[in-house]
Amino acid sequence: MSSASSRRILLGISGGIAAYKSAQLARLLKQNGHQVRVVMTQGAQAFITPLTLQALTGEAVRTSLLDPEAEAGMGHIELARWADTILIAPATADLMARLAHGHADDLLTTLCLASPAQKIMAPAMNQAMWAQPATARNAQQLRQDGWQLLGPDSGEQACGDIGPGRMLEPEAIFSVLHQRVVLAETSAHKQHIVITAGPTREPLDPVRYLSNHSSGKMGYALATAALELGAKVTLISGPVSLPTPTGAHRVEVETAVEMANAAEQFASEADVFIGCAAVADYRAEAPAEHKLKKRAGEDGLTLRLIKNPDIIAAIAQRPRGQNRPYMVGFAAETRDLEDYARDKLTRKNLDMVVANDVSLTGLGFGVDNNAALLLWRDSTGKESRQELPPQPKIELARTILHQALIQQTISKN
Ligand code: C5P
Repeated sequence: MSSASSRRILLGISGGIAAYKSAQLARLLKQNGHQVRVVMTQGAQAFITPLTLQALTGEAVRTSLLDPEAEAGMGHIELARWADTILIAPATADLMARLAHGHADDLLTTLCLASPAQKIMAPAMNQAMWAQPATARNAQQLRQDGWQLLGPDSGEQACGDIGPGRMLEPEAIFSVLHQRVVLAETSAHKQHIVITAGPTREPLDPVRYLSNHSSGKMGYALATAALELGAKVTLISGPVSLPTPTGAHRVEVETAVEMANAAEQFASEADVFIGCAAVADYRAEAPAEHKLKKRAGEDGLTLRLIKNPDIIAAIAQRPRGQNRPYMVGFAAETRDLEDYARDKLTRKNLDMVVANDVSLTGLGFGVDNNAALLLWRDSTGKESRQELPPQPKIELARTILHQALIQQTISKN
């Protein structure tokens, strides 16, 4: 397996009889080239020993939040950041309840709360417990919070009952993980990802223009992350002082109209379109042919501005299946982040919006770090969200791309 598709998986095991199957799951993940670190709840240790998992993964197994020795090795926040996927198998009814309510009362729940990773769980419990309205509510809440629930399976249970609640077999969990997470990325090899980046410049005369503070760093980080996955990348870039990521096809533009023309052209052959550019909303209706002169006796200058085309909205209006890529937009806001992002998702007919609060110091425009909220809708219109804490733009770019490719794959199937 290539390093691009090798994942850093935090395998969480909670206290159900299915915990013994997690040893096989850990083995499958390791055999397929993934890095695996195991965290066990106290209950899990009644069913299987940490030593078993340590022997299978070659890594010390973490069991406690307040363990000075383990924390000295890799602190829990570090571990939360290390993981790109959290896979909990089995997930008991109790663990689901605690996660659904945002508890952080042991190591595993704390890691889930602290980590921006992709989150997957395989519930396992007695069929009557699974059928309880409380469990159904928690499962629904977890799905809304971005968790993917695999199973449970139906059949004979350890307690003798028959019904839904069995944990999916390790092979089935592995194969879904492989399909959803790994193939979504490896299929990037065949994908063409078009990214707009940087500001636009709208001329007022031959020497002056309207523009904004966009550095292009986020768009260029997305291009780099897409190239890491082996995608074909077209980077439609406004004027920035960044080197072209090796392997990207960079199309240089100045104005919004030039960017719109390039985007319309390349979007037709794209699988994913990411509008990261800070496009100027308005341009001068009639840029002066010669440098504007200060006029004696006049203490003001009136410029008439007209609206620029909304590049991303125009492409997103194309009928699905007809040259319409999976559309990811950005929303840079200074207040009411989530409301504006949701509005943009609907109004511009986007598939996913990456919203970031540009009023926060040290994040957003021009700097290397960013935080974001991802909002997306599936083909049935159901909304999901993922909060991405402050982190380097390249890390954020990898997570955004990862989620976009997964959702694009799901939307096609
Ligand atoms: O409407 P607003 O500018 O906040 O929307 C931001 C999103 O729309 C970004 O993805 C940006 O690249 C895109 N956009 C565009 N064309 C415009 C304005 C914004 O593609 N004229």
